[in-house]
Formats: sequence, structure tokens, C-alpha cells
Amino acid sequence: MQLDPEDQQLATRFPPGFVWGSATSAAQIEGAAQTDGRGPSIWDRFCAEPGRIIDGSNTDIACEHYQRWPEDIAQMRWLGLKAYRFSMAWPRVQPRGRGAWNEAGFGFYDRLIDGLLQAGIQPHLTLYHWDLPAALQDDFGGWQSREIVPLFADYAAEVARRFGDRLASLCTLNEPWCVATLGHETAQFAPGLKDRRVAMQVSHHLLLAHGHAIDAMRAETRTPLGIVLNHTPAYPAQPTEADRLAARLDDGLNVRWYMDPIFMGRYPLDVLAHLGADAPQVHAGDMAAIARPLDFLGLNFYTRSLVSARVPAPAPPGAQGFTDMGWEIVPDVMTEHLARIAREYLPPPIYITENGMANADRLQDGVVDDAPRIAYLRSHLRALARAIQYGVDVRGYFYWSLLDNFEWNSGYAKRFGLFHVNYATQQRIAKASAHWYRALLGRQG
Ligand code: FCB
Repeated sequence: MQLDPEDQQLATRFPPGFVWGSATSAAQIEGAAQTDGRGPSIWDRFCAEPGRIIDGSNTDIACEHYQRWPEDIAQMRWLGLKAYRFSMAWPRVQPRGRGAWNEAGFGFYDRLIDGLLQAGIQPHLTLYHWDLPAALQDDFGGWQSREIVPLFADYAAEVARRFGDRLASLCTLNEPWCVATLGHETAQFAPGLKDRRVAMQVSHHLLLAHGHAIDAMRAETRTPLGIVLNHTPAYPAQPTEADRLAARLDDGLNVRWYMDPIFMGRYPLDVLAHLGADAPQVHAGDMAAIARPLDFLGLNFYTRSLVSARVPAPAPPGAQGFTDMGWEIVPDVMTEHLARIAREYLPPPIYITENGMANADRLQDGVVDDAPRIAYLRSHLRALARAIQYGVDVRGYFYWSLLDNFEWNSGYAKRFGLFHVNYATQQRIAKASAHWYRALLGRQG
């Protein structure tokens, strides 16, 4: 594919050494749920409960990446990726979340990491992308209990010891807000609970486990360590005082609730006051344990939220449209938000660890002409280039996702990939957006 002159120019706006990547996660692509001694995860359980997943699907087969990883690395190479972000399934390497390690499970990641390195692609590993060993949920309620903290730190240390020297980065958690709130307050995600007090306690245990895991990994490896947060900046739906306050609180729960403890060692006071009796129990020393120095901050950016004190809230304007998830497309918010985060938190170098769109792709005559995805990519990369120009230290960008995959409670109905996956044959087909991204990466030299 030939880039038009403006896109050629876009390619030159990123600094040398900028890390161009794409991302996936274990539960969403691996399949092989019962293979080589993998233990069940809370998502296996959740999928088995009727009505939880829109299309009634599960992660048993997914994209068969567990078998097809060499082919997938070949596709990454064709794309010209410099980096690949993926996650390790904790129940694959430690089936019960404590006790014996599963060497066959570690063997898979060992081969994958070596395969990436041989292809000249940096491996960026996330320890926890939501697939908790089900045994830990059974034994003590998973993230609801402090018992999880040392277990997660043990797992982190073991992975750092085995793989640290071959990884380009190691990240503790993916999107703790989703784990706490969607998993324990709104019941959209596993384990499917509906209790705000529990959800907030879970958020505290996630942060604490993150901090302890950072310390445990520092003792084992010199590879850069960090966390990945999802930021959906909140804006008032109407220019009223009530909506501004509602937006401030929403932002407090989503952005500041995680950023303040990690980078300032405290929870935001306005959110604590709002939570009242639902605020988490915090032990002496916890906040210092959470606020460990990090080498990088991963941010996942997809959209904003428009918040209103009124119910029902007015629909967002969607001047640039909506994705197939119904998420408003707002690239300018990305620039503005990155500038804010850099100013207010003085974070370590930032990586955009996820950004992308679900699109109602159509495979016709062997081709997926996903023009909306190219437009999304282009507008967000322009927004990112602007943030860098304003002085925000962003070192890399990972498109979500490499492949169409299991989109959590949306099952296989939503397609985010640069590659179309035919789930009947497991054939991968590069979409037009993959050709575009490849052409852009080709200009980087
Ligand atoms: C993020 C998740 C990722 C994917 C995208 C669409 O919240 O980290 O696994 O589902 O959303």
C-alpha cells in the first residue's frame, strides 16, 4: 500500500527509537484452555454461566494462538512490528495460583519469547490480564482478600527470575479499574459480583499486590517495570455545576483513584469522602508499599466518558463517530489527557499500551476494507504526535489488537484486529488497516 503524502509526513513526527507495537492478551487469543496442565481461570467459570457472554462463547479455542504462535510471529514480522505486548496466563504456569509451577506452561512462554527475539521483536509481558486461577477465587475470594498479595508477588518474582533478562518490559497489572469495578461492582466481567464496597477493597488489594510485585521483581531483574492503567477521562455532558461535579467524581474513580496512590502515595480525598463506608480498609504502610518507583507507565486510551448529574444522561455528540463498541471517537482528548497526566503526575516514560477500535468488518472476496479503522489509527497517531510535540515523554504505541479475538463479555462478536480471524478455519487475513500500519512502520526505517 502507498501512503498518501500526509501519512508519510505523520510517520516522520515520532522520535527515533519510538517503539511500534501491537497487543494481545492470553485469555483472548491462546485457547488450549485444558492443554498441558493449565488450571481453570475465573473467566472459564464466568463464560460457563448462562447469559454472561453475549454470544454464549468461551475461551477454550479462541485464536488457537497456543498452537499457531509461529504463524502469528510471522505476521508480526510482515507488519514490521518492533514490539509485541502479550500476557501470561497465571493458571497456565501455576494451575492453582500457589504451590507447584507448571513447567509445560512456562515452556510455551519460553518458546514464544525466543521466537519473538529471533524475529527481532521486543517482548513486553503483562503478568495479569484478568485470568485469575479459579482456585484462588474458591479458596479466599481472589482479589477480595489480602491473601492474594504475597501470592501475586511470588508469581511475579518467579516470572522475573525465569524471563527477566529476555523481556523488554514487565508489567504487573492490566487495567485494575476493570478488574475491580467491572468484575466486582457492575458484574460485567469475571468474577461477576455486584458490590461496591467489595470492588473498592479489591482495588486496594490490586494496588498493594502491584507494589509488592514491583519490589519482588526488582530483586530478580533489571528489566523495566511498570503497570498498565485504562484512562477514560470524564467530561461534563452539559456546562452546569452539577455536571462538572459529576465528571470530577467519575474522573476521580477512574483516573485519580489509581494514579494518586501510585504516584503520590495517597487516595484522592474527594473520592474517599464520596465512598464513605465503602472506602477500602488500608493498613499502616500500605500506601508506601503501593507507591513504588516505576520505570514506565502504560496507558490504554480508547474514548472519554460524558458524565451528567441527570438520569438519563444526554447522548454524547459523537462528531467523529462511534466504534462498534459504541465508544465515542475522540482523538483530541488523547492529546489533552496526556498533557494533563504529564503535568500533574510527572510520571516516568509513557507507553500507549492499547488503543484501537472494534469495527463492523466485512470480509468480501478475501479482503477486509476497514477504512474506519485506518481513520481511527491515523487520527490517534496524529493526536499522539501532538502530545509528544508538547513535551509529553511517550516512547511507544501498541495497537489493540493484533488479531480479532475474544472480547470478554462481547465474546467474538466485536472485532478489534489488524488481522481478521476466521474462527471456523483459524485463517488470518491482513485487513486494509494492517497494510496501512505496515506502510507507516516501513517509513520509520
Ligand atoms: C481493554 C482490555 C483489552 C481489550 C480492549 C478492547 O480494556 O485491556 O483486553 O478488551 O479493552
